[in-house]
Formats: sequence, C-alpha cells, structure tokens
Amino acid sequence: MEFKGPYPQETLFSSINRRDFMKFCTAVAATLGLPMSAGVKIAEAVTSPERPPVIWLSGQQCTGCVEMLLRTDHPSIDSLIFNLISLEYSETLNAGSGHQAEAALQQSIERYKGEFILVVDGSIPVKDGGIYCQIAGRPVLDILNEMAPQAAAVIAIGSCASWGGVAAAEPNPTGATPVHAVLKPKGINVVNIPGCPPNPYNLLSTVIHFLTFGKLPDLDDKGRPTFAYSRLIHENCERRPHFDAGRFADEFGDEGHRKGYCLYKLGCKGPETFNNCSIVHYNDTIGCWPVGTGCPCFGCSEEKVGFHVPLFTKSKVAYPTPPNQFTEAVPERGNGSVKFAYGVAGAVVGAAVVAAAKRDGDKEDKQA
Ligand code: SF4
Ligand code: SF4
Ligand code: F3S
Repeated sequence: MEFKGPYPQETLFSSINRRDFMKFCTAVAATLGLPMSAGVKIAEAVTSPERPPVIWLSGQQCTGCVEMLLRTDHPSIDSLIFNLISLEYSETLNAGSGHQAEAALQQSIERYKGEFILVVDGSIPVKDGGIYCQIAGRPVLDILNEMAPQAAAVIAIGSCASWGGVAAAEPNPTGATPVHAVLKPKGINVVNIPGCPPNPYNLLSTVIHFLTFGKLPDLDDKGRPTFAYSRLIHENCERRPHFDAGRFADEFGDEGHRKGYCLYKLGCKGPETFNNCSIVHYNDTIGCWPVGTGCPCFGCSEEKVGFHVPLFTKSKVAYPTPPNQFTEAVPERGNGSVKFAYGVAGAVVGAAVVAAAKRDGDKEDKQA
C-alpha cells in the first residue's frame, strides 16, 4: 500500500531535542522488533514533510482509547502522534462540533479519498439497524460502511473496536460487533490493536511502520501486528521467576502480594493473553502496567478472555515450563545457583500449577 502526499508539516518535532528524538526512534525500532540501525530510517521517515491524514471514528466507547494518547511523556507521545499524522476529525478532540465538524469531515473524506487512515475506537452496534450509537443523527454502522471503502487502511484501536469489548459482554443488548466483522463482507482488512486501553506505542509503531516502509506491519491470524502481539504476557512477565519457583499471592494484600509474588492464583490471565505490555510499559514509566502495580492481568486485549471470563477464574497455562532467559526478580536466597534452581524447580512447579488448575477446574465443573 503506497502512501501519497505531500501534506505540510511546519512544526515537526520542534519541541523535542535531537538526543530524545533519536532515543525515541530507536525505541520504536525495538518495539517493532527491528535492529537498532532501523532507527535512522525511521527518523528519516518521520521527519519527512508528508503526514498521512487520519480520520478517527468513535463507536460505543468510553474515550479511554483517546485518553491513552494524551497521557504519556518523555517525549510527549501525543505531540509525537499529532506531529506524525494530520488528525482531520475526532469527535473527542475536534475543536469544532455539530454541523461545522460534520462538514469538515465530509471535506476531508473528499480531499483525501483513498489516502486517509481510518482509526476506529469502540464497538459497532448492529442490532435494530445500529440505532444505539449515532453521530449527527446517523448510525455509526452506516458511517463506517460508507467511510471504510474510501480509506487507505483501517485500524481498530482498543478491545471494543477489535473484539466488541465491554459493550459485547453478555447479554450484549446492542449487538455490539467488532469493526473487522462489520467490514469483512466488504473484503476490507482491518488492523486490530486490542487493549483496554491499548499501549499508545503499538498504534504509534503501526503508523510509523506505514510511514517508513509504505505498508502495514505483519499481522497474525487475528489481524494484530505481530511485533506487539506474538508473545504471551506470561513469557516476559517480571513476576515469572516467582511463578516458576512456586511463590504466589493468595489474597490481595497478603504477604505474597506485598512481596511482589506471582498473581496467578488471583486470576491473572497473563498465561493466555498475547500482548507486549510486560515489556513496553505504559506512560513511559517503568512498572506502569497492570501486573507491575499488583493487579492481575484480566486479559483485556485477548478475544473472549477480557470481559468474558470471570476475573478470579484460573488461567489456562500454555507454557508451564520456564523460558530460556529469565527476567530479573529479587531472589529470596541470593547465590549463583538460584537461577539454575529456579529452572529445575520451575519445571516441577509449572507442572504442579497446571495440575492444580486442572484439578480446580474439574472441581468447579463438578460443583456446577
Ligand atoms: Fe474504553 Fe477500553 Fe473500550 Fe478503549 S477498549 S473504548 S478504553 S472500554
Ligand atoms: Fe506474571 Fe501473571 Fe504469569 Fe504470574 S501468572 S508470571 S503475574 S503473567
Ligand atoms: Fe490488559 Fe493484561 Fe496488559 S489487563 S493491559 S493485557 S496486563
């Protein structure tokens, strides 16, 4: 997919010094799984005067996905995003409103037909003709169906747009539907960036990939960029050594919880959730992600897990054996053999946890 321009960009990155800017480009290269040297190519692409126009359409959402763009720093990711793209329309961020905003939207669609990126947050209600979510008196279902065929690419941002999210939880009274399911009959592919909210770096890196290489990043079979969603959280979690060593928090606030032990028994869904939040933390702040703050992952970004599986249900553990490389954790008895001991103990404990989970599951099934 070729990106065409040009679009004027007068104040590009003027608020960021060169050192921070190159650090940022290198960080994006790392997020994309590219060698550090790709940072130079990324820097060239993002300082080009061509900015892709973006139209941001909102369905049934809580504004959290827009808010996540505005809550980061060092350098401010909102300024990066808004310097990289030309945001033509966003109900939440528009300066104008009402007829003015709608007229500007129509002008943008006509002007950038076939060139704009359509970003959608929120699910699309399809029941009763989509009347449960309307913009300017029109169902968002109709607006999406009209707009998407004219876009160069469609990105569903957040779990609501990717999987239906909150509104699609049982009994789904509005017929909340993911964007890709609405557009599939039209043969339109959608990039899914799930999360509640998703990490802004995943959106930013997708857009930068588009800018740098002229095409969207590789996607998995669920339409998610593989650079961000090819690993289970459990594989790279900072608490993984505690899991492998059999150290768990049993209750919120107990000694294990206060010591930072594994949250598996509190219902952590990290073992069945694909996302990079255990590596790329939120708000550019180390430790700023659910598990880092002591809250079990509830599988917000995984289809049919977040908003569908009860919070305290124990997760299925796909890979109970320890990874080859360990993340750092403070060992209780520090000596050179600790990591080796973790490896051996981890295999045993991992198997025990699976057995315990299965046993609990069997017990719950029998009780049900
Ligand atoms: Fe809000 Fe989460 Fe849905 Fe985004 S994915 S709109 S943050 S509920
Ligand atoms: Fe981390 Fe959760 Fe896995 Fe424990 S179960 S290691 S807290 S992802
Ligand atoms: Fe969501 Fe779990 Fe990450 S709740 S933000 S996928 S840790």
